[in-house]
Amino acid sequence: MSDSPSRKIRITEVGPRDGLQNEAKILSATDKIKLVDLLSACGVGEIEVSSFVSPRWIPQLDDADEVFAGITRNKNVIYSALVPNEQGMERALAAKAEKISVFTAASETFSQKNTNASIQETLSRFKPVIKLAKQSNLPVRAYISCVVACPYEGPIAPSTVRALASKLLDLGADEIDLGETIGVAVPTDIQALYEGLADLLEPYETTLHLHDTRGTALACALAALQLGVANFDTSCGGIGGCPYAPNSAGNLATEDLVYMCSNMGYQINIDMNALFAASRHVAAALDRSLPGRVFNANGA
Ligand code: HMG
Ligand code: MG
Repeated sequence: MSDSPSRKIRITEVGPRDGLQNEAKILSATDKIKLVDLLSACGVGEIEVSSFVSPRWIPQLDDADEVFAGITRNKNVIYSALVPNEQGMERALAAKAEKISVFTAASETFSQKNTNASIQETLSRFKPVIKLAKQSNLPVRAYISCVVACPYEGPIAPSTVRALASKLLDLGADEIDLGETIGVAVPTDIQALYEGLADLLEPYETTLHLHDTRGTALACALAALQLGVANFDTSCGGIGGCPYAPNSAGNLATEDLVYMCSNMGYQINIDMNALFAASRHVAAALDRSLPGRVFNANGA
């Protein structure tokens, strides 16, 4: 699919998950529920509500069960969650998550640091998880972190990403989500990444998850749009980061992508004022300013 200015762009809002997992201040379940409910009114297609991971590894999200129980679901939104293993999958099913995201990495060191497992071990863990998901008719997204570079190993070859994406598809993943975990990519890296995937996945079949550590995320999103990518993960106000990827900043801000896409004529259908309200709530609850550029210009 080539780029067309009227093309539909789909956003997964990852603020409640990626956004809050790296914050020194842990929000109450009530504040998290309010955030998800505010985001539900924005027009995003999917909200990553939380993670059913080990509370020892991510204490910020140890109330995922309570948050899922408290949100008011909008039938036009998919409420998804991160799941690392079978134990997490049982919690996700009990919480009535509507889609799950398994996660691995294109770097052995990052995989160990983030999940205490080799890449191969993460794939073995996913087998029973994906089986349970299929039995419950839940779609499975599979994240690959470090698609351009690893905080410990440096640059990652596109062929490594391709090989891992192929294994995840063979395991039954419905969606491959490419995580530029540390925010080092420039547009030519995104082109090389998709060239590497060329005989496996079309750009529009993937989801791109950009972090904005060096201010290049929006430029990378534009390069991806021009290649035909239509699915992006973003976070309100630009919060985000992974505790196991030191010195990495937040996700590409939802407002920044929406501003660019809607003014370029892409179909994005997000209510910017509703989005600002969600980001204002996060800023107040975290008691800090947020990095998103459009939020600071028009919504803070
Ligand atoms: P482990 O310590 O090796 O696990 O962690 P274990 O199986 O040996 O179990 C140890 C203890 O954890 C046991 O408790 C288990 O019950 C408990 P104990 O008996 O000692 O009391 N446990 C759990 N509890 C609740 N829910 C669970 C669960 N699993 C085990 N699901 C594990 C292995 C994978 C669980 C751990 O490493 C983990 O949770 N890692 C998650 C780290 C994480 O969430 N990182 C951030 C998300 S990834 C990311 O941000 C990147 C992304 O945004 C894309 C990008 O930007 O690139 C997605
Ligand atoms: Mg991330």
